[in-house]
Amino acid sequence: MADKSVIIRIKRQPTPSSKAYWEEFSVPYRPNMNVISALMDIAADPVTRDGKATTPITYDSNCLEEVCGSCAMLINGKARMACSALVDKLDQPIRLEPLSKFPLIRDLAVDRSVLFENLKRVKAWVPVDGTYDLGSGPRVTMQAQEEAYPLSRCISCCCCMEVCPQFNESTGFVGAATISQVRLFNTHPTGAALKRDRLTALMGDGGIQECGYAQNCVEACPKEIPLTTSIAEVGGAVMKQAIGDLFRR
Ligand code: SF4
Ligand code: SF4
Ligand code: FES
Repeated sequence: MADKSVIIRIKRQPTPSSKAYWEEFSVPYRPNMNVISALMDIAADPVTRDGKATTPITYDSNCLEEVCGSCAMLINGKARMACSALVDKLDQPIRLEPLSKFPLIRDLAVDRSVLFENLKRVKAWVPVDGTYDLGSGPRVTMQAQEEAYPLSRCISCCCCMEVCPQFNESTGFVGAATISQVRLFNTHPTGAALKRDRLTALMGDGGIQECGYAQNCVEACPKEIPLTTSIAEVGGAVMKQAIGDLFRR
């Protein structure tokens, strides 16, 4: 057991414009280790399996408990969180690659700011800014809280967008996470003040009609958010508003 090793192949790319290449590493096995802990071992001693000194791997991580959403990457070809990917459950050599649909920064780190831009586009917040005392907010029933809670678990990891066939440059599709946040904030009693703006933002190019309902997103979501239900509900609301607008002209 003492000399058991974990073999990891990592796709390296020092800059967005440089050529990608692979390096293989061997790290000592520990029970219950995850992919991030293996990357930490490599950072402490960045030497490849064949003994060549190399640079430490660049990757994002923070919470180490599937809350911050930063450590999403392709692990054995599947978009998932590196901090919750247990080595014991992965075939070896473990293959690590950056998410493929986001601009590469370096190695396994990518720029996921498109999701934050999309959340701004749909005003994914409760509008309570002010310098005066707003008092206590409206009461939210237990049933409404229970419906909202699963949607509030989104960690902005972008796995749902990585696996979506419609999320690409030609469609400009906002993706399932953003649509689900529209559902969350539109059902909040105070957040609903911006409901019309949010639904309008989902009409037209890159909006909800780009969704092909392939359901890859719901399969990939590490927080098991009911994304396809959100897409169906928000799609119905967008349609209703669009028809209403037509008759109001
Ligand atoms: S249902 Fe399919 S097309 Fe729609 S967001 Fe999910 S993965 Fe993309
Ligand atoms: S909806 Fe799920 S997969 Fe998509 S960003 Fe949020 S947590 Fe990640
Ligand atoms: S390190 Fe925060 S989700 Fe993995």
